[in-house]
Amino acid sequence: MELYIDTANLDEIKEAAALGVLDGVTTNPSLIAKEKGVKYHDRLKEICEVVKGPVSGEVISTEYAGMLTEAEQLIKIAPNIVVKLPTTVDGLKACKHLSGRGIKTNMTLVFQPLQALMVAKAGAFLVSPFIGRLDDAAEDGIELIHKIRAIYDTYGFKTKVLAASIRHNKHMVDCALAGSDVATVPMSVIKAMLNHPLTDTGIKKFLEDYKKAFPG
Ligand code: E4P
Repeated sequence: MELYIDTANLDEIKEAAALGVLDGVTTNPSLIAKEKGVKYHDRLKEICEVVKGPVSGEVISTEYAGMLTEAEQLIKIAPNIVVKLPTTVDGLKACKHLSGRGIKTNMTLVFQPLQALMVAKAGAFLVSPFIGRLDDAAEDGIELIHKIRAIYDTYGFKTKVLAASIRHNKHMVDCALAGSDVATVPMSVIKAMLNHPLTDTGIKKFLEDYKKAFPG
């Protein structure tokens, strides 16, 4: 299972990359807007300099022609840029066009399985089901991952399932069990993935016992 960080914060990206297990980065307009004083494309370039795996940069346009114009600008930033497109009629057409040219796309804001089926048919590199936002709306985000996995496996679609909008460790475990290819998570969840109170108390006890047995 690949691990991406879901942020536009350079310090967090560097910290996650230093762990040695980071495979990529996802951003969105809201995440880049949170980084005060940065220019949209400049920040994507800075991220691509830190992480060599796929870095998703999202278009702002909602219409096909505008999406393609933005995609041209995005792919010039770095070879590892993935063009992130909304899963709409125009987004699907743009996905088909760009995929046909060998340009990688990440189809975002997916909330039901047929959106995932359509973007796979259009050749998407990544599909992003938003599980946390579904749970927020009293639906079942993990169930969506299971359904997309089953559809993709049945028909042999190569599009990678990227579980997005992950809020906590339980989401991560359930995504891994559901066969998600990738999970994109905030830094808080990356840190939480390594934590267990019994690990901390275990280390403390080992050190206490060691010091007692081997003083000085
Ligand atoms: C994914 O690519 C999105 O940036 C992200 O996971 C959205 O998550 P949110 O629901 O926490 O905003």
